[in-house]
Amino acid sequence: MSAIDYILARSLPLVPKPIVRRVSRRYIAGDGLREAVVAVRELNGEGLMATLDVLGESVTDRSLVEAAAREYGEALRSIIEARLDSNLSVKPTQFGLKIDFDLCLEKVRGLVRLAREAGTFVRLDMEDSSCTSPTLDLYRRLRAEDLASVGVVLQAYMRRSLKDVKDLPEGANVRLCKGIYIEPPEIAYRDRALVNKNFVHLLEALFDRGFYVGIATHDEELVWEAYRIIERRKLLPASYEFQMLLGVAEPLRGRILRDGHRLRVYVPFGSHWYAYSLRRLKENPRIAGYILSSLFRGRLS
Ligand code: FDA
Repeated sequence: MSAIDYILARSLPLVPKPIVRRVSRRYIAGDGLREAVVAVRELNGEGLMATLDVLGESVTDRSLVEAAAREYGEALRSIIEARLDSNLSVKPTQFGLKIDFDLCLEKVRGLVRLAREAGTFVRLDMEDSSCTSPTLDLYRRLRAEDLASVGVVLQAYMRRSLKDVKDLPEGANVRLCKGIYIEPPEIAYRDRALVNKNFVHLLEALFDRGFYVGIATHDEELVWEAYRIIERRKLLPASYEFQMLLGVAEPLRGRILRDGHRLRVYVPFGSHWYAYSLRRLKENPRIAGYILSSLFRGRLS
């Protein structure tokens, strides 16, 4: 982390809450499900798919696990009723991964079954490295129960990810991203060039195993690498998708769509937007940099 990044990240809590709100509005659909439905409908109208994320993570109280399961159930009902082209992304710690593995399994299983009945899908987001093995176990358990309507995430900065590709069950559905948490160098690559190189290796390894891949990046270099791999392997658009975060790299998003690829936008929403924004920003000072520079460039309205 550079000194400037460090200062930017630490000064964010001093930015008045309404300003954080205005800046993060671009990246978060709103406080409630209603706003999220409007955002997804708009994206669908532009030919983009979506994945809904009810903000919240690291739950330490069982009653909050119930609340998260309820909120996700409501989000799923809205997807069905409004006929949205969207699936769900969940953080296992929001479903109690850090309290009780079996409780988490039971709650995520319930949601995945409902999603399967509705013809949609649940992605298990990947959190910090303390969650990697339990999240992959959770995924394997659900797949072993023949629940194909569930997918997982691998992070290109993790040194273990290539081995994780080998250990995934047949027919896995994997989102590949760089990884957003700050991890020690013993377990994670820090150098951007190395992370990018590993991203490409992992993408090849995932396609080698015949998996469906969500290519989650806004990095043009990686998008063009992915194009090259897709073309060389003559992959059909139905065997992969690109994925991006709401409000990020919209011109590139349009370009990918026009080039004939499918693209899904990650749409976070919910009352925990402030804690979420600050945590994300502190975890990744580069993003703090984007936020503060947009502040100075006057892109707040
Ligand atoms: P990089 O960080 O190099 O960014 C490339 C360019 O994109 C930047 O130069 C900038 O212009 C722009 N950009 C990137 N992020 C931005 C932002 N937030 N705001 C404004 N501009 C931005 N991570 C994780 O650990 N677990 C997970 O489950 C997920 N899930 C996930 C889903 C989806 C759909 C996406 C797109 C990303 C994730 N991530 C994630 C986050 C991911 O690991 C990574 O931190 C970010 O995507 C940024 O990495 P890029 O590949 O975009 O490259």
